[in-house]
Amino acid sequence: MSSFYDAVGGSDTFRRLVDAFYAGVADDPLLRPLYPEEDLGPAADRFRMFLEQYWGGPKTYSEERGHPRLRMRHVPFRVGPAERDAWLRHMRVALDGLALPKDQETELWDYLEKAAYFMVNTFDEE
Ligand code: HEM
Repeated sequence: MSSFYDAVGGSDTFRRLVDAFYAGVADDPLLRPLYPEEDLGPAADRFRMFLEQYWGGPKTYSEERGHPRLRMRHVPFRVGPAERDAWLRHMRVALDGLALPKDQETELWDYLEKAAYFMVNTFDEE
């Protein structure tokens, strides 16, 4: 059975999504300081490998990083509602840029939106 990963266009599609997303993050005054490394490239690779694995593509993410435990991995970073909304705004632009068929786009977006809400780890105002 063909995976969602294959159906949307495989690695090329996930690369385009993640590259466009990180282009937004690179210029974002709220999100950019959260990323510990000066070079966003390695973070983009980790995110892409995770998404590829999640949607039925290669399992490279877990080979290199182990179990995702994404909520735990985000604990060191402040992810409040404002960070979540900024994250989703860049993701929306990146996803629109792919111009996928509507059903595929909706499936991806629903997942990403739920995942972003799940990642919130503080409601403290700063
Ligand atoms: C890593 C921020 C949501 C997947 C990171 C990192 C930051 C971050 C600062 C560390 C960068 C690095 O890898 O060096 C955020 C913020 C979010 C968010 C502000 C707002 C809600 C999400 C969501 C997903 C995700 C929804 C999945 C759908 C990942 C993955 C990594 C990561 C896979 C790398 C984990 C690892 O292997 O170390 N994120 N993230 N993030 N994030 Fe997020």
